[in-house]
Amino acid sequence: LSAPASAPIGVFDSGVGGLTVLKALGSELPGETFIYLGDTARLPYGTKSAETVVRYSVQCAEKLRDLGIKALVVACNTASAVGLPAIREHMDGIPVIGVIEPGAEAACRASKSGHIAVIATEGTVRGGAYQEAIQCRRPDAKVSARAAQLFVALAEEGMHEGPIAEGVARHYLDPIFDPPGAQPGVEAAPDTLVLGCTHFPMLANAIRNAVGSPVRIVDSAATTAKSVREQLAGARLLGGMGRTMVRFLATDSPERFARVGTRFLGQTLSPGDVELVDL
Ligand code: DGL
Repeated sequence: LSAPASAPIGVFDSGVGGLTVLKALGSELPGETFIYLGDTARLPYGTKSAETVVRYSVQCAEKLRDLGIKALVVACNTASAVGLPAIREHMDGIPVIGVIEPGAEAACRASKSGHIAVIATEGTVRGGAYQEAIQCRRPDAKVSARAAQLFVALAEEGMHEGPIAEGVARHYLDPIFDPPGAQPGVEAAPDTLVLGCTHFPMLANAIRNAVGSPVRIVDSAATTAKSVREQLAGARLLGGMGRTMVRFLATDSPERFARVGTRFLGQTLSPGDVELVDL
């Protein structure tokens, strides 16, 4: 039995990073009700094995399914990269939308040369999901993928600008965009960079300074939100009456979720807004 159009949209991430996706969902789908679950007790997913990420992701999805959602957004690149088939099996036909396909779509649209760089967590890069999704849309594409795990910690610490963030950005990005010994014009650098992790949009300025202004930087938040709108419209499940409402759930420390999440959401959260849940 499918949920009615008035039911909430479930969104989950390993922690607060998915709030960058929630923000885009709120703009694209005003008036909807959202339930956002951050599995903060078990973050990061990006360094864990695929088996563990699948197990955690299915537990998050089941929790939201049991709350009567009409659609599920997997607002975590690592969970989307390895967990979508397993999650779908447990969702009783509820539409499930991940962030990798929309991110790949945005990158293919932005790139002229077809040389696309992807930075993401270790788990996302290892699984090759972005590489596959890009090459499926654009078989001639060259994809240079690199894990940039330290960005997750920097974003959580609020160190998204300044010399440390810029140094780390150069550490990860120079080998792709400015490799030693590269001859200008011969080995062309990528013209597009995908921020393949929910935390990375927080570091957009430091990343921009490292890659230079001609490179197009894309992330999957806005494209994912558009894809959710299309799928809901196709299934006649668009709600959007009244005020946008969000219920926040976290598996650890509402205080930390509220403090760090405030920066990611760009809107003040207080610990009292966050319910502690067990999976
Ligand atoms: N949310 C994760 C992602 O988008 C980043 C944080 C983590 O490693 O759990 O891949």
